[in-house]
Amino acid sequence: MSARASGATALHRAPVGPAALSVSGLDKRFGGHRLLASVSLEIAPGERVVLLGESGSGKSTLLNLIAGLEPADAGTIHIAGQRVDGGDADTSAALRRTRLGFVFQAFHLLPQLDALANVMVPLLLLGTSYPEARRLAQAQLESLGIAARARALPAMLSGGEQQRVAIARALVHRPTLLLADEPTGNLDEENAQRVLELLETACHEHGAALLMATHSAQAARAGTRVLRLAHASLHHV
Ligand SMILES: Nc1ncnc2c1ncn2[C@@H]1O[C@H](COP(=O)(O)OP(=O)(O)O)[C@@H](O)[C@H]1O
Ligand SMILES: [Mg+2]
Repeated sequence: MSARASGATALHRAPVGPAALSVSGLDKRFGGHRLLASVSLEIAPGERVVLLGESGSGKSTLLNLIAGLEPADAGTIHIAGQRVDGGDADTSAALRRTRLGFVFQAFHLLPQLDALANVMVPLLLLGTSYPEARRLAQAQLESLGIAARARALPAMLSGGEQQRVAIARALVHRPTLLLADEPTGNLDEENAQRVLELLETACHEHGAALLMATHSAQAARAGTRVLRLAHASLHHV
């Protein structure tokens, strides 16, 4: 290889940045039961990690701790190199709003807003102007193949369509990390497959890392790495 070619390769190498997610020594108890015992996990930018585990093993709890929906008993959580737990609650909340997207099993779209307005919400919360939020939300719906349903209320959409709108909403502000909790749990096999492919492609296109909890073997294939949560600890699969 010539010096020129190797120089070009070096120039185009991805920059070495902080992990998309870094969790260290995370503990969570409910009553006397220790659900997470010093759990540590690092996810590189763009990596897709599937989290398996039996019902009740603590998958949702782990995602909720990362998303700040519940407090941990101990441990630290960094997203893109910035600590999002402890410290100033407003700063942590702002960082999470900027850096995170969350896709739920039950979609959780706002029922009184149409698909387009649902996707605009995270942008408006971040201070994006209304016309710009509208433009970006429309483009995101288009890239997920659901722009034709932009003016439909969630109740008029199928489960697969609702989940695509929810994915659009979770990605529209270009988060570093997308959390997905059983995102195909309410879908038939065909819609589940479509949603998994969209999650995979969308994360790839936007460089978002993915942490997806599931107990579906079908969903596990969407990951670049598979972990299992059992007995309060993470295990490589
Ligand atoms: N807020 C809570 N208070 C008490 N127990 C809880 C709470 N949230 C979850 N749990 C318990 O923690 C366990 C794990 O729940 P969860 O994280 O939802 O597991 P998974 O998502 O793997 O099915 C369950 O036994 C559940 O009942
Ligand atoms: Mg769960």
